[in-house]
Amino acid sequence: MDGYGPALDAARAFADRWLDSLPTRPVGVPVDPAALQAGFGHLPDDGLGAAAVLGELTAALEPGLVASGGPRYFGFVTGGSVPAALAADWVVSATDQDAAVAVMSPGAAVVEEVAGRWALELLGLPVDAAVGFATGAQTANITCLAAARHALLAALGRDVEAEGLAGAPPVTVLVGAAAHATVVQALRLLGFGARHAVRVATDAQGRMSPAALETALASVIGPVLVCAQAGQVNTGACDPLGEIAAVVRSAGPAWLHVDGAFGLWAAASPSRRHLVAGAEHADSWAVDGHKWLNVPYDAALAVVRDRAALTTAMSVSAPYLPLGELDPSTRTLENSRRPRGIPVWAALRALGRTGVADLVDRCCDLAVRAADRFAAGGVDVLNDVVLNQVLLRVPGVDVADLARAVAADGTCWVGTTVWDGAPALRFSVSNWSTTAQDVEVSVDRILALRDALAR
Ligand SMILES: Cc1ncc(COP(=O)(O)O)c(C=O)c1O
Repeated sequence: MDGYGPALDAARAFADRWLDSLPTRPVGVPVDPAALQAGFGHLPDDGLGAAAVLGELTAALEPGLVASGGPRYFGFVTGGSVPAALAADWVVSATDQDAAVAVMSPGAAVVEEVAGRWALELLGLPVDAAVGFATGAQTANITCLAAARHALLAALGRDVEAEGLAGAPPVTVLVGAAAHATVVQALRLLGFGARHAVRVATDAQGRMSPAALETALASVIGPVLVCAQAGQVNTGACDPLGEIAAVVRSAGPAWLHVDGAFGLWAAASPSRRHLVAGAEHADSWAVDGHKWLNVPYDAALAVVRDRAALTTAMSVSAPYLPLGELDPSTRTLENSRRPRGIPVWAALRALGRTGVADLVDRCCDLAVRAADRFAAGGVDVLNDVVLNQVLLRVPGVDVADLARAVAADGTCWVGTTVWDGAPALRFSVSNWSTTAQDVEVSVDRILALRDALAR
């Protein structure tokens, strides 16, 4: 078996080339996945040397890679990796620590405690809340809602972890009509049932209406779970969290969860934090690291005010696995996992308070710039551009055709969605390295392709 050096040298050489090319390479030119197959070879009888494997791997992968970590990728809500976080992620791989229990890696357990506390401070959340490092907002939503399920039913004397939901007092679940699909997925997995969730009316931006919530709650008897949102995936709009929290608090036994996958980072910016004011009154929060904080995939934080609710919902114990307060797996779905809090720590340490605020502000300002340019070019901007999302409709052109043309052109990448029952284009500015020039070049190209399609 080879040593590590030659393979790591090959990985480093590829990474340098890849990262250097991000600002200029074609972003996401479509390929036929089947055409990639041959490059990955067959399972050999005798294994190859590590350096040779790295050479094969990078050659076979590269045609199928998307420059989604680069400055002109505006699809979904996709961050890149700030350099300190990327390098820290290499350390995570090289040291191969298991962040399940502190005794397996005291360093991992402690750095995650520190990163969690710093994130709470930046997000304006209760400093003594519990933080679990999840793979994404999807798992963070599940984790938080498992804690909610525990607390709401424990208050009625029900041990849901032991007894399950069958025969339990019903929990009324309310979500905004424009909630993210992963919240609904969490409700499915936790046995609440997607169809049982009451959909609360939203305004034209996708913000939950506090008045509609109040009306919906008026007739509810028993425990209540309300799922609000900071950062609607199409519009970037944030629910009026202060008003929602006030309604929820007057409703009796209730849990308020905020899915803030990307939008909650607005709290880190003095000029944007008003958008998420009141978030601190909730009981739990899901927020991604790999979106707006620009740490590598994957990282998210599941934050729960009631530490005992989270640890009771999440802890597993076995004679060989005695768990204590510092053990990260008491707060996560996973038992064994990589310490994804390490790159989060590195990003926060490298950016500092002002760096995170600048990152948020820069993306928001560039989104406004893009929206203004699109509007001047005859494209309809459908949302109030309060955050980093721009939602577009292009008169006379099928947006799916336009998105395909943009992808094939390679200058940038944008996605599609459906908004108000009709197709729309999404332009999300979430990368730390995106410049005004990137936005200008990309908008120019999208408008030119629009013109070509309209002819
Ligand atoms: C509001 C919201 N919640 C949840 C998610 C899911 O995040 P992840 O893909 O990190 O699990 C997203 C993804 O865009 C989102 O925008």
